Amino acid sequence: IKVTVIDRNGQAHELDAPTDMNMNMMELCKAYELPVEGTCGGMALCASCHMYIESDHELNEPSDDEEDMLDQAFFVEDNSRLGCQIHLRPELEGLVVRLAAADD
Ligand code: FES
Repeated sequence: IKVTVIDRNGQAHELDAPTDMNMNMMELCKAYELPVEGTCGGMALCASCHMYIESDHELNEPSDDEEDMLDQAFFVEDNSRLGCQIHLRPELEGLVVRLAAADD
């Protein structure tokens, strides 16, 4: 599938995203060397993969861990999610996300 990631300079990157590798959006961004830290390795424990969902895709509901982490993150909006909790699947064709500002 194709997904679009808007970086912190407002530049859009269209990425090829495999749906058969159990990958998530944090890992995908890292694979393309976009500036997503993923410090906790995808455990919903660091919020360094905070991103905003800019398209109207139905995503899986955030887990309690993700909700807790987003409660502590900076610049949280209604469309905030942790990239590591967004698993790549065919339904996400055309997904558009925008990277949140880094916390530091
Ligand atoms: Fe740490 Fe997503 S990589 S919360």
